[in-house]
Amino acid sequence: MKIVIINGPNLNFLGTREPDIYGRQTLDEIENRIQEYAERQEVACSFFQSNSEGELIDRIQQAHMDKADGIILNPAAYTHYSYAIHDAVKSVNVPTVEVHLSAIHARESFRKESVVAPACVGQISGFGAVGYLLAIQALKEVRNKGEEQ
Ligand code: DQA
Repeated sequence: MKIVIINGPNLNFLGTREPDIYGRQTLDEIENRIQEYAERQEVACSFFQSNSEGELIDRIQQAHMDKADGIILNPAAYTHYSYAIHDAVKSVNVPTVEVHLSAIHARESFRKESVVAPACVGQISGFGAVGYLLAIQALKEVRNKGEEQ
């Protein structure tokens, strides 16, 4: 099983950025943790981060071309207003789980809405880096269900 983990703007600043909200782990540390977990689950992971909307869209489309089995996507602030990322997720044939480190529904009102989530199979928020591990489990479930049918 192949999964692509895509992180959006400012997530390259994890560790430095508002640690009370996003924790003290850097993106590299989080990706290493995901990698170790995924190996134990026999899942192959690739990682991508960009601060640009177009690059995130290109990587979502690439996941389709590479026949990935799933995408784990933290669109960061784009979550709340990028119809282009919504459309990209809808365009590809790859189940996508939206992940947020923080509990977006318990924060400022502009963070409560995700315009990307309706294009996804589900959303996980508020569990810090563990959310990415939960998303791997969720994608395995989605895949097993597909195989049962
Ligand atoms: C975030 C939540 C977003 O509202 C914010 O803009 C981010 C990070 C999270 O992971 O909690 O950049 O996606």
